[in-house]
Amino acid sequence: MGKFQVISHPLIQHKLSILRRKTTSTKDFRELVDEIAMLMGYEVLRDLPLEDVEIETPITKTTQKQLAGKKLAIVPILRAGIGMVDGFLSLVPAAKVGHIGMYRDEETLQPVEYLVKLPEDIDQRQIFVVDPMLATGGSAILAVDSLKKRGAANIKFVCLVSAPEGVKALQEAHPDIDIYTATLDEKLNEHGYIVPGLGDAGDRLFGTK
Ligand code: PRP
Ligand code: URA
Repeated sequence: MGKFQVISHPLIQHKLSILRRKTTSTKDFRELVDEIAMLMGYEVLRDLPLEDVEIETPITKTTQKQLAGKKLAIVPILRAGIGMVDGFLSLVPAAKVGHIGMYRDEETLQPVEYLVKLPEDIDQRQIFVVDPMLATGGSAILAVDSLKKRGAANIKFVCLVSAPEGVKALQEAHPDIDIYTATLDEKLNEHGYIVPGLGDAGDRLFGTK
């Protein structure tokens, strides 16, 4: 079974409380998602491989460490995942970005895929799928299905708010992937929204409602 980790740094918890408030503006919401993604990225990228490098300080020659240059890809689930991309890119600016477009049918709660645009060598990359919300898990499961169908093998899923139902569904469907979340909330309501949650992440991020 892959790792399941709640990244509960005090800065993340503080920013998450502001993010959840219904009075938080679109501008602040966008900035907070960006900041939390960056703080989470610091932890999620902890396992990046290193290699030895010979360098010369003003004093002596020495062997030190540098990132091994493993190929990375950030894959946001549209729309709301877009809000987490820059936070990750600020840490690993050379990463490629793929996009998976998906929306949840509000009646059936089933995800509908409408776009998949990925780096050509996606099968060779360490992939970070990002989406602020893991609710029923339908969108995340379909996104990972979609990536695996194209040969992807090394996948981590990063969200801000998750529901127990979504975590369980994603773990059952894809036991090999690691899941990182900033908070594990209480439950889903009858409309498939996370409680207490933060509402509709896409609408709050882009100001569409
Ligand atoms: C939201 C969210 C996830 C999905 C989570 O997207 O960003 O992708 O719902 O729900 P699930 O776990 O039950 O699938 P939404 O469908 O609202 O699309 P949007 O980002 O375009 O608004
Ligand atoms: N999608 C959202 O944006 N919010 C939820 O609470 C559940 C799914």
